[in-house]
Amino acid sequence: MKNFQYLVLLFLLLGYNTSAQNPAVSLEKKIEVLLNKMTLKEKIGQMNQLSADDMESNYKEIQKGMAGSVLSITNPEIANKAQKIAVEQTRLGIPLLFGRDVIHGFKTIFPIPLGQAASFNTELVEKAARVAAIEASETGIRWTFAPMIDIVRDPRWGRIAESCGEDPYLTSVMGIAMIKGFQGKDLSDPSSIAACAKHFAGYGAAEGGRDYNTTNITERQFRNVYLVPFEQTVKKANLATIMTAFNANDGIPSSGNEFLLKQILRKEWSFKGFVVSDWASITEMVDHGFGSDNKVAAEKAINAGVDMEMVSGSYVAYIESLLKEKKISIATIDDAVSNILRIKFKLGLFENPYVKGNTASVFYKEEYLELAEKLAEESVVLLKNETQILPLKKPKTIAVFGPLADAPHDQMGTWVFDGDKSHSITPIVALREKYGNDINIRYEPVLKYSRDVDSTGFDKARKIAKEADVVLLFIGEESILSGEAHSLSNLNLQGVQSQLLTTLAKSNANLITIILAGRPLTIENEVKQSKAILYAWHPGTMGGPAIVNLLFGKANPCAKLPITFPKNIGQIPMYYNHLKTGRPANGSELQLNNILVEAAQTSLGNKSYYLDSGSDPLFPFGYGLSYSTFEYGKTTLSNTVLKKGETLVVTFTLKNVSNYEGTEIVQLYIRDIAASVALPIRELKNFQRVDLKPGEKRLIQLKLSIDDLAFYGIDMKKKVEAGKFDLWVGSNSLAGEKVCFEVQ
Ligand code: BGC
Repeated sequence: MKNFQYLVLLFLLLGYNTSAQNPAVSLEKKIEVLLNKMTLKEKIGQMNQLSADDMESNYKEIQKGMAGSVLSITNPEIANKAQKIAVEQTRLGIPLLFGRDVIHGFKTIFPIPLGQAASFNTELVEKAARVAAIEASETGIRWTFAPMIDIVRDPRWGRIAESCGEDPYLTSVMGIAMIKGFQGKDLSDPSSIAACAKHFAGYGAAEGGRDYNTTNITERQFRNVYLVPFEQTVKKANLATIMTAFNANDGIPSSGNEFLLKQILRKEWSFKGFVVSDWASITEMVDHGFGSDNKVAAEKAINAGVDMEMVSGSYVAYIESLLKEKKISIATIDDAVSNILRIKFKLGLFENPYVKGNTASVFYKEEYLELAEKLAEESVVLLKNETQILPLKKPKTIAVFGPLADAPHDQMGTWVFDGDKSHSITPIVALREKYGNDINIRYEPVLKYSRDVDSTGFDKARKIAKEADVVLLFIGEESILSGEAHSLSNLNLQGVQSQLLTTLAKSNANLITIILAGRPLTIENEVKQSKAILYAWHPGTMGGPAIVNLLFGKANPCAKLPITFPKNIGQIPMYYNHLKTGRPANGSELQLNNILVEAAQTSLGNKSYYLDSGSDPLFPFGYGLSYSTFEYGKTTLSNTVLKKGETLVVTFTLKNVSNYEGTEIVQLYIRDIAASVALPIRELKNFQRVDLKPGEKRLIQLKLSIDDLAFYGIDMKKKVEAGKFDLWVGSNSLAGEKVCFEVQ
């Protein structure tokens, strides 16, 4: 940063016309000019973010120049009032930046991010983020605290709902798509909102899935797994901001982690945006025991490279004295303020500080709702479809049960502050609207909400189920059971939902279960008892019509799991891209009930697995069925030896051998057989969506560049190591015919 400023000065001395020829240089010049005019107090003010809880006191702070940003104002009049004070009543008139958690929609709510990731559809995901930005910016919000690109391998962690799942590649491409949507073509467009990739870093690895808990990620794991989506979004998506995480990794809280923030983010990746702390995560370093008081915490955060403090006020309280005591330097403060001003300039806030405030007409537009419906359709995963019971073939009577058939609030999912449930269309409403005239639809929720334990309605339900051709059961989780601070130690269905399912399965063989949830639940028994299972996550405002379209074949499921589904809680952590072990299981291992009584102990021939639940999950990463059936032809490679700068072209035929037009998401996985360190058993490196008409056959090509094979090996340098590789293309992370190639 400093070097860059010197360069700018040099150019100026040489008579270089900065503003006309080079917009980037002129931006840096603007920052420099403004910074030079700022007093220390004004600089500190820019580094401080206030929360909208108490606007009367905020107005006073803003007038004193003690705020750079306010989070969670959603009323344009209040935003304009606060902005007017900043622009007209402070010495330099630096505009405020208004932030908000716009996670999966602002008013029009799209599926939770985990559901969006299941679509493997970056185009739709980008469009959804664009809609969220358009709606949010209308109220003055120009900054969202999204996307959340934490890698998560533990469904107990409630925040898994906000993530794109367990895979670094999928999370990277989804994160890039979301950032592109939020930030638009140019940040200065009034409908663009700055994105904030979070939480930097490793937060998703909380021990035991308990939110805010410690992580112990090694540097290699960081670089090869957890940091990948951050590096990719910084390098490929012009990411504006990054948020530090709550967790301490190896004893170092993220908001005080100089190695992550300075060495990796700024030095290695050349990040030019600004870093904001998470909510009070700076002063919480005192609770971590990483500093004796808030002053020490502020010192550590500033020196680590946190530019803006979210709400905890320690920068305002202590920067002046820390400077006097020479615990921090003015150069560090100048860097932080420059980083913040850079984004404010890029957002065009100096030219356009106010919002028009003519809001309601731009919310819930027809085209937004259509997009929300389409994305919901593409996010619902068909996990089972025995006897091809789906799509439904004109049943005369349908019995509908369950607490989530008509739950307009819960179907929106976690992190919805602005979406209005009165706009949600629930499955039962959609079903009646679309088929109410032709089909006899009988509806009994039986349970009022997912945790309800009152089974008095079971008898009636049994009777209704017996008389129906088909039973639709909508169960799962209320939205409040996932999200921040909502971790669970038991992932079975809550309340008496499982008992309801068993009752219905005994009453009618045609039981179709639709699960709405913020995370993978342990549903092994429920899968066995149901003829078909649709996993709908929390599908958002238009979840109802989307599910009904899928049930009746107006839409064909194509989503794939972005996360492994364990059979039971004891299998966690279970993720597809785990490292190889010395004793990999192959499915032929001894089962618990086959062990002889008083059998002699031996370690010979033993494998890495559980006696009581094997080594496989219930459903693997990448899994998902369709009404179509796809046949993969033989895989051929453009070359069997790959050298520097080369790209491998993987070719195969894909045929739709069914009567349904459908989309297959073909996935390309590799395994590096031997390297300087143990590597994953399989890694997703590419995927492609292929639409095929009934009977259609097409030649598919997927590319793999040699650079895609790079990783941080024994010397902690990113490079490709020579050697043999396995490669698969297939419909999930356990499928595909293996082919081999070599890197020289
Ligand atoms: C969460 C962040 C969020 C912030 C602001 C925190 O509790 O961890 O993800 O952006 O609050 O609402």
